[in-house]
This record gives sequence, C-alpha cells and structure tokens, in this order.
Amino acid sequence: MRNRNAPDIVVAEDIVGSAMAQLADSFEVYQDAGLWQRPDDLADVVSTARALIVRNRAQVTSELLQQADQLVVVGRAGAGLDNVDVQAASNLGIVVCSAPVQNATSVAEHTLALMLSLARRIPHADCSVRQGQWLRHEHTGIQLAGKVLGVIGLGNIGQRVATYGRTLGMQVIAHDPYLSPDSEAVAQLGCTLMPLSDLLSRADVATIHVPLTDATHHLLNRQAFELMKDSALLINTSRGPVVNEADLGEALTSGVIAGAALDVRETEPPDPNSPLHMLDNVVLTPHIAAFTTAAQNAVVEAVVADVAAVLDGQAASYYANFPRPQR
Ligand code: MLT
Repeated sequence: MRNRNAPDIVVAEDIVGSAMAQLADSFEVYQDAGLWQRPDDLADVVSTARALIVRNRAQVTSELLQQADQLVVVGRAGAGLDNVDVQAASNLGIVVCSAPVQNATSVAEHTLALMLSLARRIPHADCSVRQGQWLRHEHTGIQLAGKVLGVIGLGNIGQRVATYGRTLGMQVIAHDPYLSPDSEAVAQLGCTLMPLSDLLSRADVATIHVPLTDATHHLLNRQAFELMKDSALLINTSRGPVVNEADLGEALTSGVIAGAALDVRETEPPDPNSPLHMLDNVVLTPHIAAFTTAAQNAVVEAVVADVAAVLDGQAASYYANFPRPQR
C-alpha cells in the first residue's frame, strides 16, 4: 500500500521553471536541490516515490534504483545519460526519459563562442583592457575562415556545430563511428567522415560532441594530442572525462597543441589549483553550454511532460529505454 504522505515525484537537483510548477498541480512533488549530495537521503526519499527527476549531478545507480520499489520513471533534465544507469533501469522495468535535442542549439552556440573566444583571445583581451592596457599586437588572433574544423561526434550538437563551421567558411571534417560515410546527414552537412586519427592530424580546431561511455573515456589523451598539429585548438563541451586533463595540461604546456577551451571537466567543480587554470592558452567556462533560458525551458518542459505522461500511464516522447513502464 502506498504511503499517502510519500511524494509521487522526487526532484533531486536545482530544476526550476513554469513547467515544474505545473507538475505540483497534479502530483505530490518533493524538491530538494541539494539532495543529490546526500545519497543516503536520496535513496530514502526515492524508496517510496514513483518518479525521480535529476540533472547531471545525482548519480542514479543500480543500487539506488533497486531500493526504489515504486519507481516507474526517471526524468533526466538534459541530454547526457552518463549519470543514469539506463541498463539497470531497463532491467527493473523503469522508463528513463531525457531531453536529447532541446538544448542542442544552445550547446552548439556555446561551442562556437568558445572557438571564437580562443581564436581571438577575447577573455584575455577583455581582461587586459579592464587592467588599463591597450595591447593590440599581443592579442593577434586566428582567422577561422579557410581553417579545418574537426567535429568528433556528429549527433544533434555536432551537426549544428558543423553547420556553423561551414557558415564561417571552415572546411568541416568529422568522425562518428555510428554514421556511414554515404549517409544523407553527412552529405547534407557537406562534411567528410574519417577515422579519428585522420581527423586529429588534419584539424585546425577539433571539437568534441560524444557521450561519455567506456569507449569515449579519455578518448583524447597524450597519444591523440601527439597526432594533432602544434597550432591546433581543442574545444570540449561534451563531458570532462572524454579528455585526459593531465595529458592535456602537458600538451598545452609543451606546445604539442596550441590551445583549449573547456566547458566540462573531469571533476566538477574542478580543483581551483588545476594546472590548466594557470595557462594563458586556455579558455574555461563552468558547464554552462546548455544554460540559456530558452534551452532550460525547453528541457524542463520536455522532461516534465514525459514524467507526467508516464505517471498517467501514457507513453513518453523522449525515452532512452522504452516508452512505458514494464514493472
Ligand atoms: C546535457 O547533458 O544536457 C548538458 O551537458 C547539460 C546538463 O548536463 O545538464
């Protein structure tokens, strides 16, 4: 028998918006933005809930899911599913839904912003003007038109970045093991698909848009950097652990590659004393690529709609395993 005081929906992170407020009209919602930091409390509250909504910080592990007897749906307010054990959820008959496209444009725009910031030294120039300097030759940048943009991962975000790169007049090459070189998407984007090693050796700017999996963990490491041009720039708006940060720091310090812009880090928040923070050829942002009002509203609306649908016995629109609960 269900405990009448138990919430239907547990929200374990800071997820806001009008759609969230509407959820409370139909369901008993318990929200604690810091719950993700207290796994024991999270397990306790989720043990009687029917739905759990998270962003990317709560770890939705197999152990947590096994303790949640009533759970029928996990809503991930974002695209990446590396913090949700989707296989364990599937084994238990729990639907996992996410927002796979809703923030893709904002993430692609942030990727473009990082690429331009790095190529034109915008943060450094801004900082020096604020310090009373007017240095022009010191901030000589790189013109991107005519350069080669290497897109690693040609999914929803990578395809948008490829389009923006072409608009800037860049030649776009791509690596994606899940796409065939003669696929329509590749032809429409006007880019050439190739093995990762070829992309790395040819790109002037390499940008990463892959999910974090066992296969992509530390995909960009010392060996990969050694394949790149010494003038190359690396952009990462995907997941921090796709890049080996220690190897990246060495590559940037020793001139193996020329610069990097990172929105995501191996540990978030990162150690404030990270060697990367001391380097002049690095641009850093705090995992904000998806943080625009438009993207967040779209993400929250999609996840709220799917969680409500599943709780009402309907099918989810954006499901990572199956649309309806099987338990
Ligand atoms: C995503 O995966 O959607 C973005 O990285 C933002 C997030 O993790 O919430």
